[in-house]
Amino acid sequence: KDDLVVLGIETSCDDTAAAVVRGNGEILSQVVSSQADLLAKYGGVAPKMAEEAHSQVIDQVVQEALDKANLTARNLSAVAVTIGPGLSLCLRVGVRKARKLAGSFNLPIIGIHHMEAHCLVARLIERELEFPFMALLISGGHNLLILAHDLGHYIQLGTTIDDAIGEAYDKTAKWLGLDMSRSGGPALEELAQEGDAESIKFSTPMKQHRDCNFSYAGLKTQVRLAIGSHNINPEIPISSASSQDRRSRADIAASFQRVAVLHLEERCDRAIEWARKIEPSIKHLVVSGGVASNQYVRARLDHVVKKNNLQLVCPPPKLCTDNGVMVAWTGIEHFCMGRFDPPPPADEHEDYV
Ligand code: KG4
Ligand code: ZN
Repeated sequence: KDDLVVLGIETSCDDTAAAVVRGNGEILSQVVSSQADLLAKYGGVAPKMAEEAHSQVIDQVVQEALDKANLTARNLSAVAVTIGPGLSLCLRVGVRKARKLAGSFNLPIIGIHHMEAHCLVARLIERELEFPFMALLISGGHNLLILAHDLGHYIQLGTTIDDAIGEAYDKTAKWLGLDMSRSGGPALEELAQEGDAESIKFSTPMKQHRDCNFSYAGLKTQVRLAIGSHNINPEIPISSASSQDRRSRADIAASFQRVAVLHLEERCDRAIEWARKIEPSIKHLVVSGGVASNQYVRARLDHVVKKNNLQLVCPPPKLCTDNGVMVAWTGIEHFCMGRFDPPPPADEHEDYV
């Protein structure tokens, strides 16, 4: 296993990412090209535009990942690529590149589930992390609580019935007039530090539902109403807001964040109780996905985990947001279990994928 060298390619949403990882977990290179400027300009991901942006940089991103690792494609053991979930136009850019490379250099190819990659990257950074364990996966499109029994064997304890938490962060950030040239989450986290988290009493979602599912649509509506009642104009960027206006925005940001994360805490608490009935031996809760790079989220969940006598495994922020390392590593995990496809034909027609 240690001799394996796998290239991972990720293009499911707005980041074009590639990385080379060794079977022993050594990260040989890591490259991410983000479309933040496009996002800021158009206020969200437009699939056709995102596809074009991926196509423009994919060759360069993959080449850079190989160069930084001091390798050529010839030295690779396999190519891993995200095949879903995500925007199909965007996924296709990565898959096409992976198949072309694998075909030309006669390499096996491993199709990767994006959320499994967010989860399993935790096993790269914490080598003691053995199955079974629990995972809370929080990103722009997903909110998942799972019990990971074994590689490829996951029990879903909870999911979102509407929006994911990252989506709620992004919308709230937009409505508060934050700088969207990076994604909304980090900007909102920063502003929340200036605010009073108790100042606005948003209600916690799904209190009456005694399950492990999530909902963020109602909280989004509450935020929207608070923005109206505080006379905040989202068209006015926060940099031009008066000091009183800025304070109101910070209070909304902090109050939103407190409740958004409290919802995670409550669901995790219950999920741990459920998971222990199925699998009493669990020792770890993994928290991963873009929102897991948030320091407040990490601190609050660390508290929940300690209270329940578990250990928190939260990858460093760069490995929580979309990246190629998680894809390469998940590829290694599958490859070692014999789960991969044979090399595609070298002369494969591009339209095939
Ligand atoms: O996993 P990810 O990079 O892409 C998806 O698979 O969706 O997650 C992106 C999401 C975005 O909604 C972004 O705003 C959020 O993660 N995010 C954050 C932070 N950093 C990224 N949310 C809150 N606080 C952060 N520091
Ligand atoms: Zn993701």
